[in-house]
Amino acid sequence: MKLTVFNGSPKGKKGNTQTLLDHFLSGFLSGGNHTCETFYLNEINGHEVNAINFSRAEHILMAMPLYHDSMPAVVKAFIEMLPSPSSHDVQGDIFFIIQSGFPEANHSRYLERYFKKLATRISRRYLGTIVKGGCNDISHRSDWMAKKIFKSLYGLGKFYGNGGSLDQKILHQLAQPETLKGVTLLFLKTGIKLGFMRSQFDRMLKKNRAYERRFDKPFLDSKEHKVSSKQEHS
Ligand SMILES: Cc1cc2nc3c(=O)[nH]c(=O)nc-3n(C[C@H](O)[C@H](O)[C@H](O)COP(=O)(O)O)c2cc1C
Repeated sequence: MKLTVFNGSPKGKKGNTQTLLDHFLSGFLSGGNHTCETFYLNEINGHEVNAINFSRAEHILMAMPLYHDSMPAVVKAFIEMLPSPSSHDVQGDIFFIIQSGFPEANHSRYLERYFKKLATRISRRYLGTIVKGGCNDISHRSDWMAKKIFKSLYGLGKFYGNGGSLDQKILHQLAQPETLKGVTLLFLKTGIKLGFMRSQFDRMLKKNRAYERRFDKPFLDSKEHKVSSKQEHS
């Protein structure tokens, strides 16, 4: 079986999406006569070629991070430029990986529903969506630290390679926690109140010299925004 992979991370080969893909694909390829080819949707100029490869592929995996509770813009742009299905297209199947920073899987369920609909619209058989939260630093975690996640992805890949479907038991386990409850939720709420949870975002904002502008509302206050962007560009 040949699996055609579309990596929808804006960070391409360097992102966390690639790390999850690596483990899924090594399980998939362990099973014998399989091959895979990966296309990167962050290479915007390649969208037309990618769309042709998409229409021709029999088995497709699209993987991406959750950005702003949705798909990254590069994925949306790619989907919107896919041609309507024609009778010449391969009637193949499709499945997805959505991975996110927040630990709860429920953040990704809206996007999962969209992909289920998308599969019907593009006349492909929908095999399911692999959802995993808590992946913010996964590409920097050692194999030992991320042992459980990597093992599950490897297992899913192997199972898919063997039978062309997703193992529902692993899928369910990997998605835990679906929602945070009890002591963990209380701990998180306290952390947010005390400001601990902001430190990572604040560090990123400072690194990108955007910290001082973190309360900007450019779309709400468009008049002021126009003035400040004019000043910035002059
Ligand atoms: C611009 C941006 C928006 C994000 N929005 C969300 C979000 O809405 N929910 C969430 O759980 N994680 C969010 N994240 C975290 C990413 O989903 C997470 O870090 C992911 O592992 C990044 O994968 P990548 O390295 O392949 O881009 C966001 C990250 C960025 C950079």
